[in-house]
Amino acid sequence: PEEATANADGVLEIGGVAVTELAERFGTPLHVYDETGLRRQVRRFIDGLRERWPNSEVLFASKSLPAVGMYRLAQEEGLAVDIAGGGELRLALAAGVDPERLYFHGNAKTDAELRMALDAGIGAIIVDNDDELDRLERLLERPQRLLLRVIPGVEAKTHASQATGGLNSKFGLPIDQAARAIARMQAHPLMRFEGVHLHIGSQILDVAQFAEAVEKISGVGTFGTYDVGGGLGIAYTYEEEAPEVGAYLDSIVAAARAHLPADAKLMIEPGRSIVARAGVTLYRVTTVKRTGRTFVAVDGGLADQMDIALTQQRYEAIVADRLHEAWTESVQLVGRQCESGDLLVDGAPMPPARVGDLVVMAATGAYAYTMSNNYNGALKPAIVFAREGDARLVARRESYDDLLATHAPAMADAEAFA
Ligand code: LLP
Repeated sequence: PEEATANADGVLEIGGVAVTELAERFGTPLHVYDETGLRRQVRRFIDGLRERWPNSEVLFASKSLPAVGMYRLAQEEGLAVDIAGGGELRLALAAGVDPERLYFHGNAKTDAELRMALDAGIGAIIVDNDDELDRLERLLERPQRLLLRVIPGVEAKTHASQATGGLNSKFGLPIDQAARAIARMQAHPLMRFEGVHLHIGSQILDVAQFAEAVEKISGVGTFGTYDVGGGLGIAYTYEEEAPEVGAYLDSIVAAARAHLPADAKLMIEPGRSIVARAGVTLYRVTTVKRTGRTFVAVDGGLADQMDIALTQQRYEAIVADRLHEAWTESVQLVGRQCESGDLLVDGAPMPPARVGDLVVMAATGAYAYTMSNNYNGALKPAIVFAREGDARLVARRESYDDLLATHAPAMADAEAFA
């Protein structure tokens, strides 16, 4: 995080709050965000794009951190919001996001979800396929803004599960099928077709790929709006380098100047690059085992860091309450889930670890909370936003009662047969 420093006792402070205090007040595992840095990053995108292309809009890809407090922050800072389903729609509406500024994505939207979105007066729907157009023909009662997702045919240089712009993608329609879908929308009295959308993938570090996608999509036709998706990658570790927001915007806008109509509206949808580096996960060490290697086990793991399994993302972690001590050991930082793949950091430099140490895993602000799950009966961690010495709870930790609540039918049966 931008606002992270060591205090005189060698304890890491995030947003001016010591991790020891955070752990005591909110428990661990805990997702902690530097709210000042987070807001600053949002403004880098909004102001940076507006300076370069005034008729523009930045959407927050809310799948990266679907928390009511984050939707509220997005609304306060002037971001529009990308939602990908009924759940994110409910959270965004509960946060008070203006429905006009919601954009509904997804390749498998149901009737029920589309009805919810239409009833809420959603800003625009990003149409993915012909079945969705069939559904909209049945459901529309008022004019509705629509964009069409097209496959640009750009193979993003990233993990296969994060690449979505290649010709075999399940998302959107190939360029040669777009014209027919567009004609269908333009012919319908209630469909207000505004333009096209693309998204080539996630954790992309070569900004030229975004420019390439802009050029490809310009071939579909001349429209009022071009939404060129999200995907800017970030540095997860000290060795990695990632493009600055400015370099990313330069690349997209140069391509837009060369290939898009000058009066078109240009939209982007960053998720990871807004929230990832503002967030860390705080764990407490439960076990230190010295066998052939040193295993330092913490009170969370794979269940709250799915990326270590899904994309083999590499992270860094530190002992955050003894920063003044020398890092003399290289350890296997592991979680508590029943898999050997539950390895948070392979070779983390640390002072000789002790039970009770606080460990901070960095750059976990995107796609961690949202993909956390109940594997091994794990509980979804809490989220805290820290700013200028204050910490506020944004999402509470799941409880065992939450876990049991969905099993009420089985428990009722058990009582009936008792
Ligand atoms: N727009 C669309 C249509 C998307 O599908 C996504 C991400 C974004 C924008 C935002 O992309 P970003 O700026 O965050 O890269 N679970 C994976 C990431 C999946 C990304 C899904 N789509 C992971 O943990 O790496």
